[in-house]
Amino acid sequence: MATASIDDWASGMRYAAMQSARVAWYTGHGFAMRRMLKRIAEKHPQAAPSVTPPSKPVPNTARLLRDVGKLMARDFANARAGLYPMPDPEETDLSRLLATSRAFFADVPEVARRRREGASQEVGGKRGTGKRPRYYMQNFHFQSGGWMSEESARLYDMQVEVLFNGAASAMRRQALVPVAEALQGRDQRQLLAADIACGTGRFVADLRGAYPRLPVIALDLSEEYVNETRRHVGRAATLRPMVAKAEALPLPDASLDVASAIYLFHELPPKVRRQVAAEIGRVVKPGGTFILVDSLQPGDMPDYDGLLEVFPQLFHEPYYRGYLAEDLPRLFAPHAMVVEKVETAFFSKIVTFRRSETA
Ligand SMILES: C[S@@+](CC[C@H](N)C(=O)[O-])C[C@H]1O[C@@H](n2cnc3c(N)ncnc32)[C@H](O)[C@@H]1O
Repeated sequence: MATASIDDWASGMRYAAMQSARVAWYTGHGFAMRRMLKRIAEKHPQAAPSVTPPSKPVPNTARLLRDVGKLMARDFANARAGLYPMPDPEETDLSRLLATSRAFFADVPEVARRRREGASQEVGGKRGTGKRPRYYMQNFHFQSGGWMSEESARLYDMQVEVLFNGAASAMRRQALVPVAEALQGRDQRQLLAADIACGTGRFVADLRGAYPRLPVIALDLSEEYVNETRRHVGRAATLRPMVAKAEALPLPDASLDVASAIYLFHELPPKVRRQVAAEIGRVVKPGGTFILVDSLQPGDMPDYDGLLEVFPQLFHEPYYRGYLAEDLPRLFAPHAMVVEKVETAFFSKIVTFRRSETA
């Protein structure tokens, strides 16, 4: 008993130390980035992009950090309850971490320039693989290279963590809770999961950490991001990386036991959102689970509603407003996907659907 509590205490301390360092690292990057952006803006006073002031409340930094703390407490409790392993630092190679940090800051003036000039279509003329639709060929978030460069794949996680004060990984991990519920008591080797729009593979790594023998498809339309997933997750017989469109999944009907799509839906035009929902309904087995993680929508956390208004004005997020108005249960209902649970986790919402057995 005494040993168990010492172990608990030690793992709590380790978790707290690791996450505090993480939050400090990314929040510090955020402060430094905003100072850089301010200095850049002072040099171009005429070109400041206009931002309509929010009509609803916006949380201040203290509130955001408090909410990050609450998320971390929940993350730790989940891991301690055995719903998933205690998280490890994702990057332990200090020189790589510092190189990414340098590259991140070196890229800030370019992002600022695109924002100033409204240059969101720089990658539009770039040749893709022939499979990439026009809506995809944009500099989302004003990022360099859009989704279509190795450099963008290398910087993506740092950019996302800076945006969310180091909480992005913990928000994604909350999707492991419905996965644990779906897989409880089942032989993972006999099942199949897919992370649709896996990006650089952070959630795929979480899944593999929790279920090493579960076959997992890591699918994304960006070859460069899928390559980064391969690098991050490493080789494994059970991992199937795939470059494909979510609106035309190269998977048989009723083939998946579990599917997830994390921060995909707000990046899609309304029509494509519908196609992707239909595809997910097609490939998930009756009784199977689909977990959607994406931005909060208005009313989910009323104190954050103003932030949802500002966010798409600061970053190139052409489909975000449409996503905010999307009725997610209704989007999936025609495809026999029924909402089982809706939760929020800091800036994210997690919607768990079950495919009806009788469809
Ligand atoms: C905001 S990122 C999210 C990545 C990852 N799921 C995460 O948790 O960070 C959006 C991802 O969606 C991918 N994507 C966008 N449209 C897609 C589509 N139609 N089919 C497949 N992937 C798509 C992009 O390539 C990018 O990797």
